[in-house]
Amino acid sequence: MWDYYLGGAHNFAIDRQAAEQILLLHPDMPLVAQVTRAFLRRVVEFLVGQGIDQFLDIGAGIPTVGSVHEIAQRFTPTARVVYVDHDPVAVAHSQAILSGAANAMAIRADARRPQEILDHPAVRNLLDWVAQPAC
Ligand SMILES: C[S@@+](CC[C@H](N)C(=O)[O-])C[C@H]1O[C@@H](n2cnc3c(N)ncnc32)[C@H](O)[C@@H]1O
Repeated sequence: MWDYYLGGAHNFAIDRQAAEQILLLHPDMPLVAQVTRAFLRRVVEFLVGQGIDQFLDIGAGIPTVGSVHEIAQRFTPTARVVYVDHDPVAVAHSQAILSGAANAMAIRADARRPQEILDHPAVRNLLDWVAQPAC
């Protein structure tokens, strides 16, 4: 539904139907999604400017339409991103989208169990907890 509000192509008919129902009550939802994405873009640009080149995006949804790795790698091509979501459909879509992406992957995990995220092999392989920002 979020992807639909963002104008993305990674949504199903049932998502669009439910999203349209919500629009009847909250017609500003597409604006909310777009403003949220714009905030995300500004945050990532700021962090990259501070030398941050690793991102753990928890509650990422589907990395479409201005995702963290696209923004970060535009400035720092070697930037690394792990997307985390607990929705298996979002994760499956994410993994398909990211199959050809360098230094970006998606895992299924729950924000309510942060240690499982930190211990996940993909997180341990891709992110370096010791590295310092390259200022
Ligand atoms: C609004 S959507 C994606 C928002 C996206 N971060 C953005 O800025 O556009 C929120 C996502 O958070 C995920 N989520 C909700 N609770 C979660 C939890 N406990 N652990 C991991 N992901 C969660 C949902 O599955 C959903 O994909």
